[in-house]
Amino acid sequence: MIDIQAVSKSYDGGRNYAVRDLTLATRPGEILGLLGPNGAGKTTTLKMITGILDPDSGRITVNGHDIVREPIAAKESFFYVPDDPNAFLRLKGIEYLNYMAALYRLPGSQGERIAEIAEDFEMDMVLGDRIQSYSHGMRQKIILLAALLVNPPVWILDEPMTGLDPRAAFKLRGRMRAHADAGNTVIFSTHVLEVAEKLCDRIAIIDHGRLVLLGTMDELRSAHREDVSLESIFLSLTDADDPEIAPLLASLDEEA
Ligand SMILES: Nc1ncnc2c1ncn2[C@@H]1O[C@H](COP(=O)(O)OP(=O)(O)OP(=O)(O)O)[C@@H](O)[C@H]1O
Ligand SMILES: [Mg+2]
Repeated sequence: MIDIQAVSKSYDGGRNYAVRDLTLATRPGEILGLLGPNGAGKTTTLKMITGILDPDSGRITVNGHDIVREPIAAKESFFYVPDDPNAFLRLKGIEYLNYMAALYRLPGSQGERIAEIAEDFEMDMVLGDRIQSYSHGMRQKIILLAALLVNPPVWILDEPMTGLDPRAAFKLRGRMRAHADAGNTVIFSTHVLEVAEKLCDRIAIIDHGRLVLLGTMDELRSAHREDVSLESIFLSLTDADDPEIAPLLASLDEEA
């Protein structure tokens, strides 16, 4: 599980905050969705959980290990899929997967498991090719395959569905659900509200670096109105003053 305590992060020495006093903890067996407008602080938050960025203040633990003080123990417990999949381009797909298996010290040959997951995501035919030659979606898939292969307790995914074809996105959603149902933790960011609504056990909406709402869909609805969509909750929390959006929200209110 992930525990974020009063974390703040500024990229410009404290004039503006990308993440401001964020406190958020996942529960075992849950898929937590991070939502928020462009620039809200989702990627910054995920990068701080992974130790890529250090918070200016506050504390983060992953599976009970402080990411700053016990980085190795913390890192062994998660796999991070970044929003930009352009890494390890000179490796062949299979070399990258074997490298990740070795890095996470998976025992023995993982050939059978690699074959199974690669086939499931229609990547089996290209594992011998360099990642450089992959399309954007294929580059994303090879990193997701590594997450499935390594299968640590915590998955941290930054916009994992973006760029995936519908079949791969469907399969990934199933894998995320199964991982959480086995008692593990999945945290991911997305802009696709329909996916968040269907897939997430709880949703966190971030705006200007602050947590503005956290709860199950039912809790979010009861805090607003029983019949509202996640889209209207999202818009009302993040864009209520926008001159184009305010009348839209008013008309939704009239319809209700
Ligand atoms: N490397 C960086 N240097 C300076 N500022 C940054 C950097 N990365 C992010 N920011 C700023 O931090 C804020 C939060 O950005 P972040 O990437 O975390 O947002 P996000 O919620 O992931 O957005 P998106 O939905 O577009 O992916 C933004 O104001 C952004 O301009
Ligand atoms: Mg982002």
